[in-house]
Amino acid sequence: MKILVIKFILLFAFVSSEKVRFDNYSLYKIFPKNEHHISVLQELRNNEDKYDFWKDPAVASEFISVLSSPQGKSELESFLNYYNIEFVITQSNIQEIIDKENVATYTRNNLRNMTWTRYYDMESINSWLDDLVSSYSVVTAIVGGRSLEGRDIKGIKISHGSGRRAIVLEGGIHAREWISPTAVCYIIDQLLTSNDRETRAAAADYDWYIFPVTNPDGYIFSHQVNRMWRKNRRPIGSNYGVDLNRNWNNNWLVHGSSSNPARDDYAGLGPFSEPESRSLSSYLLTLQGKIDLYLSFHSFGHLLLLPFGNTTEPLANYQDAMNIGRRAMGALSVRYGTKYVTGNIAEAIYLATGGSIDWVKEHLQVPLVYCYELRDQGTYGFLLPENQILPNNEEVMDSVIELIHQAKRFGYMSSASGLKASLLMLTALVLFYHFLNTKINVKINNY
Ligand SMILES: *[C@@H]1O[C@H](CO)[C@@H](O)[C@H](O)[C@H]1NC(C)=O
Ligand SMILES: *[C@@H]1O[C@H](CO)[C@@H](O)[C@H](O)[C@H]1NC(C)=O
Ligand SMILES: *[C@@H]1O[C@H](CO)[C@@H](O)[C@H](O)[C@H]1NC(C)=O
Ligand SMILES: [Zn+2]
Repeated sequence: MKILVIKFILLFAFVSSEKVRFDNYSLYKIFPKNEHHISVLQELRNNEDKYDFWKDPAVASEFISVLSSPQGKSELESFLNYYNIEFVITQSNIQEIIDKENVATYTRNNLRNMTWTRYYDMESINSWLDDLVSSYSVVTAIVGGRSLEGRDIKGIKISHGSGRRAIVLEGGIHAREWISPTAVCYIIDQLLTSNDRETRAAAADYDWYIFPVTNPDGYIFSHQVNRMWRKNRRPIGSNYGVDLNRNWNNNWLVHGSSSNPARDDYAGLGPFSEPESRSLSSYLLTLQGKIDLYLSFHSFGHLLLLPFGNTTEPLANYQDAMNIGRRAMGALSVRYGTKYVTGNIAEAIYLATGGSIDWVKEHLQVPLVYCYELRDQGTYGFLLPENQILPNNEEVMDSVIELIHQAKRFGYMSSASGLKASLLMLTALVLFYHFLNTKINVKINNY
């Protein structure tokens, strides 16, 4: 197994404006059936740099996604056959898919130029955000921090008045997960343009702090040089990049992260060693005590994750957060039948710490914190085709509205400011309503 190592990391380390190519690289969807399968796959992942695990092996894994170079394929297949592990090849040449990705450019001063059938580069997303700021009085520009290469982590705040509780959306912390920034941008678009009554109420009742791309250096690198880039662009010796979702100061480097800078889950030299995670966390600290809901967007796998990543123990308000999340995923499935699984990070994927949602939950004490793993389930993985962007974004928007709706029913979020006069009556009503719903819920759960 250890000979013929053509290291992915060598490819990744190239400093060059030449695009990294993935000719005849194949995407495998692998179906482990027992713990032995999981453990041999984990060993393969930990010992071989030539395979890029897009989805890591974990006890709960229904499937695992692995990208192999053409040179690594026969060895991978012998390995899987030797252990009797089922697999399918979902893509035999991912360079073909990359070549078909037709990244769009947004033209300034024309909000209608933004579509949901294309991916956009960093400059386009930033221009669109700037145009929103100049077009809508309820939108202001915010800066969540700075990247290593000195770029702003640009965001917008949507606010219809003072005294509102906050909702925070964080996208694009992993560069290659392109569906994440577009989903976050679509939510922005809906909050500003939708005619749906509940969506308009959600937009007006909360202060929304929204960052579509929290890893701008990595996002640009994934467009210009290496489509499979995940981390930021920190140089460390001959390697590059820290996994920004392993760098937050909560159980840092305890589980599911690496101290080897060559690896994709390298956690950095210390907690918050990276400007992106450090500056964004400082920004979030200025909102401490105001945030009701925090959502982080990743891909892929159809999952809604909640803290924590260090244990499968049900910590904090796990039961409520699970119930609210499951109902929201029910709403997500209505439009296109897409089924998401809800669970904490450790039970739904694997033990992994140092991620943003655990820090937000623990340090900011935000009651409801979730991480989406968006489409798909390993057919295309990070290379989700453009015709799935809009369906993905629509179903996610449905679920965000339902999250808020359910959070209110469970007593976690209230609507609007300006109702102080009728607050007492409202509280009484909410309690009564909650009481009724609790009874109804019991029936539904027993169904
Ligand atoms: C990819 O595979 C095809 C078919 O086996 C082969 O003809 C082609 O030369 C390969 N391309 C590269 C760049 O290796
Ligand atoms: C956006 O603008 C570009 C350049 O003018 C144009 O080619 C493209 O068709 C426009 N897209 C939409 C959806 O209007
Ligand atoms: C997991 O992390 C949480 C939050 O930091 C902490 O409260 C809990 O004690 C940890 N549990 C274990 C088993 O490490
Ligand atoms: Zn991710």
